[in-house]
Order: sequence, then C-alpha cells, then structure tokens
Amino acid sequence: MSAFNFNSGSLFCEQVSLSDISDQFDTPAYIYSKQTLETNANAYVKSFTKPDSLACFAVKSLSNISILKLLNDMGCGFDIVSGGELYRVLSIGADPKKIIFSGVGKSKKEIEEGILEGILSFNVESASELYRIEKIAENLNKVAPVSIRFNPDIDSGGHDYITTGRKGDKFGISSIDQIIELSKYIKSSNYLNIVGLASHIGSQILELDSYRKSAKKTIELADSLIELGISLEFLDLGGGLGVPYNEESPPSPENLVSCLEKELQGRKERLVLEPGRSISANAGVLITKVEYIKDDFLVVDAAMNDLIRPALYKAEHDICNIKENTGVPKLWNVVGPICESSDFLAKNISIYADEDDILAIKTAGAYGFVMSSNYNTRPRACEVLVDGDKSILIRKRESLDDLLEMEIIGDD
Ligand code: LLP
Repeated sequence: MSAFNFNSGSLFCEQVSLSDISDQFDTPAYIYSKQTLETNANAYVKSFTKPDSLACFAVKSLSNISILKLLNDMGCGFDIVSGGELYRVLSIGADPKKIIFSGVGKSKKEIEEGILEGILSFNVESASELYRIEKIAENLNKVAPVSIRFNPDIDSGGHDYITTGRKGDKFGISSIDQIIELSKYIKSSNYLNIVGLASHIGSQILELDSYRKSAKKTIELADSLIELGISLEFLDLGGGLGVPYNEESPPSPENLVSCLEKELQGRKERLVLEPGRSISANAGVLITKVEYIKDDFLVVDAAMNDLIRPALYKAEHDICNIKENTGVPKLWNVVGPICESSDFLAKNISIYADEDDILAIKTAGAYGFVMSSNYNTRPRACEVLVDGDKSILIRKRESLDDLLEMEIIGDD
C-alpha cells in the first residue's frame, strides 16, 4: 500500500496534498512518508524470527537525521561508509553496538573514531586495511572488532555501476585462501577480534537466488573458519534488495529474511542485513514545477543536481502530474535547467502537463537527495517529512549565501 495516492483529483502523501506542500515549501522539494518508512523498516525488523538479528539501515541511501532517528527508534542499526555517516548516526543517539562500518577506503581518522566509539564491526575489505586497523588499535591500546568482507563472485544483475559482488569488483576479498590466512592472523593478534563474516553483492537485486548462493558460500566459509577454532558472532549478508521503479516485481523484505533464515537454520551466528533502498526508495518523491514547454521537452525546476540517477544510470523513475487526469497525456522528455544534455529526469514519459503544473518524480527516497550537488550553483532542495496530516520541514532549502559561505577570496 503506497502512501502516495490521489484523493479528489490531487496527489497526497498520507493526508497532506502535495499541492499544499509545494505552496508552503516551494519546489523542487523532497517529500517523505513517515508511514512508508515505518512499514518498510518493520518488514525487516518484525520478520526476523530470532530476536538478536539486526537490520543495519544503509545510511548512504537517505541520511537525513530526522529519518535516521525514526529508524533508530524502530530498532534498526546502521551501515555506514564514512566518518561523516558515523557522525550523523551518533548525533541521533544510535547505539555504537549496532553500527557496521563498510567501505574500501577507511581513513586513519575514521578507523580511530570507530574504535573509540566502540562500533559493532569494521567490515574489512583488504589485507592492507586489516593491518592498518590493527596498528591503530595497538596505538590506542584497544581491540578492534572486525569482519572480513567476502566477495563471493556472484553477478546479481542490474546496472554495472552498482554490482559489487563479482570477482574484479573493487569490493571485499575474493580469495578464500587469503580470507583463511587473514582470519588466522586476526586470531593471533592482541588488537583484533573477528566478530563476523560479511558479503554484499549489489543493489537493486530483483531475485532471491543470488542471495541464496551468497549465503551458501558465506556459510561454507564460516564453517572453514570454525574448523580452525574461529567462531563468529554474526553473518552479515548485506543489503541490495530491489524496488519497483516501473514494472519490476522484486521479492519482499519478508521473503528475503525468511529465505536467509532458512539458509542459516540451526546456526548460532546472528543474521545481520544492510538494507537501504528497500526501506527508503518508495518513501520519497521529488516534486518539481514545469517552467517551460518547448517541442517535446518539459523544462522543470529540478535537475540532475537534484536527482542524478537518470543521468548516471539511465534509471527510469515514474513521473506523474500531481493533478489527476487533467488532460490527454503526451510523450515528453522531462529535463532540467542545467547546461548538459545528460540533464534529464525522464525520457519519453507519457503524462499530461502544462506550464506551472507540479510533477512528482516517484520512488526518489533512496539515492536521491543524498547524491544531490550544487552543480551550476543550484541550491539543494528542501526535505519534508509527512506524518499523517502534518508536514515537517526536516532540511531547509539552501540559500545562495549558504553556497558562498565556504568560499574564500584569496589575497593577491
Ligand atoms: N551495504 C553496502 C556495503 C553497500 O555498498 C550498499 C550500497 C548497501 C549496503 C545498501 O544497498 P541497497 O539496499 O540500498 O541496495 N547510487 C546507486 C546505488 C549504490 C549502492 C551502493 N551500495 C543507485 O542510485 O542506484
């Protein structure tokens, strides 16, 4: 059940009309439904049958602190990939013991912060990173919790830019021999503690088979480690579950959890997941105003700096006019004001639209605002959270002064 529905000819988010939101907050604006975020998070949290399982929300998909606070209150942990994301989740009171730190390029400072904050685990992506973590832990006289990120060499389909679990992708370690050697090394270290084994095979995954294969390979590897006397606290099987942008029909989070729990049946490790898109994507839309109509172009006030997914991945987001059935639909290219031909939000999309109409770009909650930029000196859009009949501003629209604030006219 979507929270974005037409009512008396107008598109609503929960009980608030998007037309009221655009009057109040202007366009472009990201609008999120609290109810949808809760439903999506519960689809993970409530479908675990083992109480110690953990859904670590992938902060990179939608990182507004109001939303992180909401997910924290619902029992989610967090998957982070930078000191910045660590700062965000700590600022809303997240329990460090529910934070997983992923990513191939953790800096010395980020590792120090993670160790000092007492996070659940660093998901280690290379031998060099492991040695660096050990050295930093030794200097701090602490023991760093680590999980090796295993690259199971599985092609989960989808766009080349977001597949991560194939040999040759930059993520994780694909050599089982190397993982075994590194695990023995960790066991013998005074400053490292192996807590888990992790894998994350990609994003926008539309079937369960890849997950099943990845779980089987991860379990096989965990068993090899157990034979060496290395016990693991958890198996982290990543995120990546897809969502329908158009006609796709991905499995539900409930299906995914039950499939993975089946694979893990009888094991003592906890199940950890890192869902992002499947919690945030359909909770958000981007609203934008039609400024001009020219040939078959709708020139709108949002652009690739606001939502880069169409330009970067040729992603197709459905778009609708927030006024229902107001005329005969036509095929349009929806483009922004940026001086690049890649600045499009949709191509050949069938809608009715007139100048000054407001359009809603759907399923924009994940990898939308977080990937926005100030290209062409365009202030970033505001973010609004709808809760029932209330709309709450959760990020102000940037001002031009905000954009210049960090810049310095150097002396001659
Ligand atoms: N865990 C790790 C280690 C990841 O790298 C990612 C996403 C996730 C979890 C969450 O994956 P999700 O459940 O959201 O699929 N910007 C791209 C997606 C990049 C995904 C990067 N990693 C897009 O707009 O499609």
